[in-house]
Amino acid sequence: MTASEGADHQVQAISSDEDVVRVRQLVRVAAVAAKLSLVDQTKVVTAASELARNTLVYGGGGRAEVSRVANGLRNGVRIVFSDSGPGIADVDLALTDGYTTGGGMGLGLSGARRLVDEFRLDTTVGAGTTVAVVKWAR
Ligand SMILES: Nc1ncnc2c1ncn2[C@@H]1O[C@H](COP(=O)(O)OP(=O)(O)O)[C@@H](O)[C@H]1O
Ligand SMILES: [Mg+2]
Repeated sequence: MTASEGADHQVQAISSDEDVVRVRQLVRVAAVAAKLSLVDQTKVVTAASELARNTLVYGGGGRAEVSRVANGLRNGVRIVFSDSGPGIADVDLALTDGYTTGGGMGLGLSGARRLVDEFRLDTTVGAGTTVAVVKWAR
């Protein structure tokens, strides 16, 4: 699927709790603009919130890029989270419900994956992690 970027493209640094809130707000605005349903807006905002928090807590900070995308049939929202943190040694394990190295619920990555239409995680130990998600309007 080739998704071309829309005009809207926002980059938000993630280095504090307030930045996580800003990411949530940017994603909400982009989801409204892409005409996602209220339920789907909430799903993508929730996923983005979990992923932004991981970028902050485990990645040591990083950034989120929020874009409106279109594939000719549908509009959607893409968010790419990236950090230069320690990376993830075992991705399958990290995506397992309940797995956490930080005393959390261990449902952030797995839950986020279920809430979006496209989910891609690229990580290199010692170099960092990138998580890209897309939610399409139905
Ligand atoms: N950006 C990241 N960099 C390094 N490790 C990460 C990152 N995101 C997630 N992880 C690892 O994956 C685990 C699972 O993440 P998650 O499902 O969000 O659960 P939780 O945040 O509750 O620990 C984390 O405990 C951490 O070990
Ligand atoms: Mg988490």
